[in-house]
Amino acid sequence: MKTAIITSASRGIGRSLAIKMAKEGYAVANIARNREDLVSLENEISANGGTARSFPLDISVEDQVIDAISKIVDEFGHIDVLINNAGFGVFKHADQLSADEWSQVMDVNAKGTFLLSKAVIPFMKKAGEGHIIGVATDVSKRVIENGSLYCASKYAQDAFLGALRKEVRKDNIKVSTVYPGLVDTFFHGKSTGDDSQTEFLNPSDVADAVVYIATAPPHVVIDELMIHPISQDY
Ligand SMILES: NC(=O)c1ccc[n+]([C@@H]2O[C@H](COP(=O)([O-])OP(=O)(O)OC[C@H]3O[C@@H](n4cnc5c(N)ncnc54)[C@H](OP(=O)(O)O)[C@@H]3O)[C@@H](O)[C@H]2O)c1
Repeated sequence: MKTAIITSASRGIGRSLAIKMAKEGYAVANIARNREDLVSLENEISANGGTARSFPLDISVEDQVIDAISKIVDEFGHIDVLINNAGFGVFKHADQLSADEWSQVMDVNAKGTFLLSKAVIPFMKKAGEGHIIGVATDVSKRVIENGSLYCASKYAQDAFLGALRKEVRKDNIKVSTVYPGLVDTFFHGKSTGDDSQTEFLNPSDVADAVVYIATAPPHVVIDELMIHPISQDY
């Protein structure tokens, strides 16, 4: 059975991704900090005949990442796909940002992607194949007011994945990056389904795009994919 690790599976895009990847026949290893949310997702996937396991951890802490990857390999034997989806933002003018806010956002969005990728690469190299997918954002490629920190963190994540693509292609490891526009999730501080977000993409729209990338034939790599709601003129 193919396996996929999905970060920030507890809600939003990650939750939808875990359900869809399980439906595609992947055993999914779901990562987030909230154990209860992960267990509820695991139960939902199992009830629908899928295979899921929960790994509650903070992706910005290297020891926790290494420990989780080792447990995932012990349980599933191999890792086919890593989806670096976790991320959040603090949106303020630069002079209003604290040093702690800077570190927290950088640690999850950029360092988290680095730590997870670094931890899985040796297993993928040994297997002679693998796929690392990053959920970036359209503001990984353009900047917005109040976005100095978020954009910097997502540019860093994007640059990391771009350089990684060059390093591991020869090892038959694909690296793909998805750049969504506005998505109806808690990311914006409102629950999914809130009236203010009706014109946004649904989490499942982004998840469908990621599944399309993950299930491309072995000789095909979709390096980059940008996706927006028709209502968003970016
Ligand atoms: N929503 C948008 O408009 C939009 C647009 C473009 C790109 N994106 C990107 O899409 C990705 C997913 O965001 P979303 O919209 O689905 O947001 P969301 O609904 O707020 O979900 C964020 C997820 O990140 C997890 N998370 C946060 N810090 C973590 C940490 N330190 N360790 C592990 N998990 C952590 C949260 O789980 P716990 O709290 O349980 O840890 C939660 O599952 C992000 O990378 C975001 O930058 C979002």
